[in-house]
Amino acid sequence: MTSAIRHFTDLSAVPAAELRGMLGDAARRKARLKAGKRSRPLEGKVLAMIFDKPSTRTRVSFDVGMRQLGGETIMLTGAEMQLGRSETIADTAKVLSRYVDAIMIRTTSHERLLELTQNAEVPVINGLTDETHPCQLMADIMTFEEHRGSVVGKTFAWVGDGNNVLHSLLEASARFSFKLNIAVPEGSAPEQKYVDWARRNGGSATFAASAPEAVDGADCVVTDCWVSMGQEHRARGHNVFMPYQVNAALMKHAKPDALFMHCLPAHRGEEVTDEVIDGPNSVVFDEAENRLHAQKAVLAWCLGA
Ligand code: CP
Ligand code: NVA
Repeated sequence: MTSAIRHFTDLSAVPAAELRGMLGDAARRKARLKAGKRSRPLEGKVLAMIFDKPSTRTRVSFDVGMRQLGGETIMLTGAEMQLGRSETIADTAKVLSRYVDAIMIRTTSHERLLELTQNAEVPVINGLTDETHPCQLMADIMTFEEHRGSVVGKTFAWVGDGNNVLHSLLEASARFSFKLNIAVPEGSAPEQKYVDWARRNGGSATFAASAPEAVDGADCVVTDCWVSMGQEHRARGHNVFMPYQVNAALMKHAKPDALFMHCLPAHRGEEVTDEVIDGPNSVVFDEAENRLHAQKAVLAWCLGA
């Protein structure tokens, strides 16, 4: 029933050529926007957005992106819907499909996203789950390539918690053909299925014994918060993570022109110091901006515009 629908659930679920095409489209749309040119390919289309967790970037960039494409959005929170009174996600998917043209969801378990996708008759976009954050990686690859050219064969280093952003970075490493070195504290490893998938699909994820070892010679250093939304019960002492803080001393192990990336929001003084996030090699606000441009390409792909 849903085979022809273009869902954007994960980078592993979309062929590499399609993802590459979306990045090209995002760059063209960004250039046209900067040149003051507007087009409205999604005129008359409505995107429903369901947020079961907080958001600044995802919420605003999807909303503005849809408006720039000529479409409209409806902002929903799970708690305010009948979902919060135990209507099933499957029934919700079927009902929303009768009203809107696409659904973006930020939610807790990945299973909720997949259940929504399996039951929706319109495209579903993953705006972050406990397991993955594919829209973030589309913006991040776009950002790297704007600053440093093709990502192919380059080396990324991830230091910190093995979380949802790392899972999508693992998928991105295979889909976009770059190397990925990972350093995480004991007990904070990414889920093995994401490591295995990346390796099976051409990625070369390696685990380093320390943060300096992971960062050694890297073209890009990436981190994220030490405690993700909804993972507070897993929170561990900061002393466990402190050796993985991205500070100026750690950045010295990377290439001199290595970029620093963070999906934001940042916890300054924890996973990253001010001198790094505000330093000349930090591209965190370009990443945030590119959420808008990359997601417009995702929306256009999903809706055939
Ligand atoms: N990076 C990101 O997804 O930010 P928000 O949580 O603000 O949407
Ligand atoms: N890993 C973070 C990303 C926030 C955009 C979280 O899930 O809270």
